Amino acid sequence: MKIGIYDSGIGGLSVLHQARKMLPGAEFLYYADEKHVPYGEKTREEIKGYVEEILNFLIDHGVDAVVIACNTATSVAKKEFRNTFSVPIVGMEPAVKKAVRMQQDETKRIFVTATPITIYGEKLDHLIEQVDAHHKVDKYPLQKLVRFAERCNFDSPEIDEYLRNELKGFDFDRYEYIVLGCTHFNYFKEHFRTVFGKDVHFVDGNEGTVRQLMRVLPKEAYERKDKPGTTYYYSGRLVNDYEKHQIQRYMDQLDKMYDIN
Ligand code: DGL
Repeated sequence: MKIGIYDSGIGGLSVLHQARKMLPGAEFLYYADEKHVPYGEKTREEIKGYVEEILNFLIDHGVDAVVIACNTATSVAKKEFRNTFSVPIVGMEPAVKKAVRMQQDETKRIFVTATPITIYGEKLDHLIEQVDAHHKVDKYPLQKLVRFAERCNFDSPEIDEYLRNELKGFDFDRYEYIVLGCTHFNYFKEHFRTVFGKDVHFVDGNEGTVRQLMRVLPKEAYERKDKPGTTYYYSGRLVNDYEKHQIQRYMDQLDKMYDIN
């Protein structure tokens, strides 16, 4: 089977990382829209245009299904494109429901973070309304983390400083769960722990999204024998050797982050 995984940039590598564990025999096409990242700073109309173009590109390259590994693009465009293409399209949304389900300490709260488009979009409000019966959920955008991630910057003290500054108004001890509602944020779990304290837990939508992909994949996809492995595209062109090397650095960071829950 051949699966297209698409994000504005390198955030969706965290979904690819998960998908490789769950579908080891699959062939993946990873598409990062490097020309237009960060989506969180674009207009909704612009994002819709990018999504349509890239879905067409992936379908032209023979994928059996596409994962939009980007909460921002899903929040803006998923509804429009759900039934428009010849292959199943799976989107992502912040895993608020999972966090509510997993909460152990009733006195504590859940912190949802994503890009401003996701945080202030109707889709997230609607989701929170549906699952947050006890009003435990707070939300806040942290767009600059996307830029740190795109620069492969995981270690500088600037990151903690940015988080502390942005989140000045929050009482960190009150939070039991952080919902990583942007795939770029998976690289920063250690920084969140530095700021929120070491007992805070994380949820993201990666595993749920791959499960959903497995549910919607047509039977024929499982029968197709493609060559397992991943081909990477940056905005329509194949990546070069230097970029491949960078991608490996991202994957190494994701390995390190994987067991921090
Ligand atoms: N990784 C994306 C998400 O999950 C978008 C980040 C961006 O391009 O601003 O929302």
